[in-house]
Amino acid sequence: MSSYVVTGAAKGIGFEYVTQLSANGDNTVFAVVRHKATATELKALKNLTVLQADVTDPKALQLAANEVSKATGGKLDYLINNAGKTNHPGFPLDGFPSPEAVEYDLLDNFKTNTIGVVHCTNAFIPLLKNGSTKKVLSVSSSIGDLELTLLGDVVAEPSYSISKAVVNMVVAKYAAQYREEGFTFLAICPGMVRTSMAPTEDNAPGEMKMLAAALAKVAPDFKGPIAPEELVKMQLDVIYSWTPERSGEFVSHFGNKQWL
Ligand SMILES: NC(=O)c1ccc[n+]([C@@H]2O[C@H](COP(=O)([O-])OP(=O)(O)OC[C@H]3O[C@@H](n4cnc5c(N)ncnc54)[C@H](OP(=O)(O)O)[C@@H]3O)[C@@H](O)[C@H]2O)c1
Repeated sequence: MSSYVVTGAAKGIGFEYVTQLSANGDNTVFAVVRHKATATELKALKNLTVLQADVTDPKALQLAANEVSKATGGKLDYLINNAGKTNHPGFPLDGFPSPEAVEYDLLDNFKTNTIGVVHCTNAFIPLLKNGSTKKVLSVSSSIGDLELTLLGDVVAEPSYSISKAVVNMVVAKYAAQYREEGFTFLAICPGMVRTSMAPTEDNAPGEMKMLAAALAKVAPDFKGPIAPEELVKMQLDVIYSWTPERSGEFVSHFGNKQWL
């Protein structure tokens, strides 16, 4: 029996995580959502506790951790830092309409995607220390990978990319700190997945143009986004097989550097 906390669980990849994990009645699963009242799809799932916390709010995360602690006797086995956002700006770093606009976009992405991972990890570390597996998975993105950016001249999503690149360093910092205690931290890119975050011609035409140019260079045979169901199965295989010796790495859902 294992216990799991998944953030950003109201939809997309997070929703699929809690769906698959809660289907096993031996698991204890906690879905952390930003707005409990609107997380209606979760109501259909059994064997699931829904907690409310914005990942930019450390006090709310601490209250959520207290609730988990009460239910599990102070333990947690897996933390899945999945919550994330992008504003789909469709501009390169020097293409925003004003300095204020680029600064807003940088800080806004950083606050949720990067600092959110830090607040969330800090809130649950005391419980993870008492857990049996001590695994923390943080959902990153290959668009934050330096090598891929240079190989593909990936201009799209600058603030989001930067926020995810820093997540990889956040994960490495925790791995270095907690190696001796048997923790496994992992940053993982899900590839491209059919969720509300994936850009489309309707919600992000500028970004689609930039992404198409990059994909033509780095993945000319790319067939399109995969379904959350398939992705979560693959990511769980990677998490379950990952060992503390390789804590702190950044890999794809294939468990390597094949991003798509
Ligand atoms: N889809 C892809 O192709 C792709 C590719 C690479 C990486 N990722 C990463 O995968 C993760 C999941 O994304 P997704 O594709 O499932 O996107 P999604 O469908 O938009 O889901 C994102 C989830 O994060 C939650 N969230 C956003 N800001 C939050 C905050 N401040 N506090 C708490 N929760 C917050 C959202 O809450 P609400 O439901 O309240 O909006 C939503 O439930 C993200 O970290 C994303 O960056 C996705």
